[in-house]
Amino acid sequence: MSGEPEALRSSRWFEGEGLRAFSHRSRARQLGIGAEELAGKPVIGILNTWSDINPCHMHLRERAQAVKRGVWEAGGYPVEMPVATLSETFQKPTPMLYRNLLAMDTEEILRSYPFDGAVLMGGCDKSTPALLMGAASADRPIIYVPAGPMLTGHWHGETLGSGTDMWRYWDEKRAGTISEAEWGTLEAAMARSPGQCMTMGTASTMTAVAEALGLTLPGASSIPAVDSAHHRMAAASGSRIVGMVRENLKMSKIADRRAFLDAVTVVLALGGSTNAVIHLVAMAGRCGVELSLGDFDRLSRCTPVLANIRPGGEYLMEDFYYAGGLPALMAQIKDLLHLQRTTVNGRTLGENLAEAAVHDGRVIRPRENPLSEHGGLAILHGNLAPDGAVIKHLAASPHLLGHTGPAVVFEDYRDMQSRVNDPELEVNAGSVLVLRHAGPQGGPGMPEYGMLPIPDKLLREGVRDMVRISDARMSGTSYGTCVLHVAPESFVGGPLALVQNGDLITLDVAQRRLHLEVTEDELLRRKQAWTPPEKIFERGYGALYSEHIGQADMGCDFDFLARSGAAVEPDAG
Ligand code: FES
Repeated sequence: MSGEPEALRSSRWFEGEGLRAFSHRSRARQLGIGAEELAGKPVIGILNTWSDINPCHMHLRERAQAVKRGVWEAGGYPVEMPVATLSETFQKPTPMLYRNLLAMDTEEILRSYPFDGAVLMGGCDKSTPALLMGAASADRPIIYVPAGPMLTGHWHGETLGSGTDMWRYWDEKRAGTISEAEWGTLEAAMARSPGQCMTMGTASTMTAVAEALGLTLPGASSIPAVDSAHHRMAAASGSRIVGMVRENLKMSKIADRRAFLDAVTVVLALGGSTNAVIHLVAMAGRCGVELSLGDFDRLSRCTPVLANIRPGGEYLMEDFYYAGGLPALMAQIKDLLHLQRTTVNGRTLGENLAEAAVHDGRVIRPRENPLSEHGGLAILHGNLAPDGAVIKHLAASPHLLGHTGPAVVFEDYRDMQSRVNDPELEVNAGSVLVLRHAGPQGGPGMPEYGMLPIPDKLLREGVRDMVRISDARMSGTSYGTCVLHVAPESFVGGPLALVQNGDLITLDVAQRRLHLEVTEDELLRRKQAWTPPEKIFERGYGALYSEHIGQADMGCDFDFLARSGAAVEPDAG
């Protein structure tokens, strides 16, 4: 078969007469594996991000058994391998600080063990980009098994969406419209099952990205975590990776520029998370594919939003699955996609979409009735963001998309927390809230602080949205007129560091502009007076992170991981 490898990579460990092969076979026998069980079989790593503290992945240990079943049935040998778990809820200050660590973990495990191919299991926010970044650098045959969304929450006759409805009801609680007792019952109703957040947050956006790139079986990313179809998809993925190894169908043969442009288009049609901008740029970089913020803005102008899912729409991921899932959505925008490219099942994208159909036009809107004519993300530039900033205007208030107002500046997250609800704070509905020191270096790790809280006193007046600007990210489940990812960040002297209380700031989304209404001379004077903040980390992983992390517009990868260079295979003989 064309592209078939001459020999399995794992044969370098297990075949031959030398002492090393003897040692490897002997230790395999120690594991209870007979030589005949391995002979000639592709060894498949199952890289599992399960852990007891990651509720979004708590079913992945069980699901790995289905993957193993598929690998065995297809004639491979499965090896489950734990890798770092990034739990969005519990890991502080943010799992984004550790995305590149999981990417390194993935790459080095794929490189240093006798794996011919791998099944990658993840879903909670940064897990997907991290696993795929590492796999891209290792460039083996891989297939992605998404964790799948959790079931819809229900409360008082209403459906609840992860994050989105938590923020909404938190504002109502602060405004005094729901009681402590009601708040308690809401806590118990929000997350009902294993699986990732079931809004179109970062997790569901990024698993959809994996599918759009062609790195999952068709339809895999929309299946709810606890559906029996999820077991079957896991087994089928295990089976398929064995074929991919025999066909030498490596990730680099799938994830090309066409695939990345299609992934951007899909994110836009989904009304997906702003975090996808950073992750896709980083993932493309690992694949040697050029992808710029300009690509997002260009495609956003011609891609309709069709997925009616919170936070931009009404429904949730379970509804999306019943409506036909991602293949149905992609089938609606076939004319915007590259249908001839290859996917993991060996078929083209066009072939995979041939039978896809929409079963509920309220959830996946038809082209003639989109949620929005244009994509939900815009890239802004201006003297406040020379290297770009991002806004999800789909989830913003239309009346604020062209707005000039005076800045209310918070030096960092703690300052914001201590003062935002101070009754003496000089702020009104037209103010622009500015948060600095929340970027890749300053956060550190670019935490999801970007949806700054509306001050209590304004909430009580009925204000529910304001223009907010930061170098932070925002949860994909969040909403509001929040300008994010301002680059370069304030911690390294970006213009956000120079804003003073009362300065006028203009946001003009139609013109893609973010402007500080201060003269260039004055900005220069402020820049000369600016002193860099002290280092946050003296040692350890934090110090490595600080020395090598890139800015948001470049995807926040480490410089030594983003650069090209020959992969060095270990000598296993
Ligand atoms: Fe894991 Fe949202 S907390 S996906």
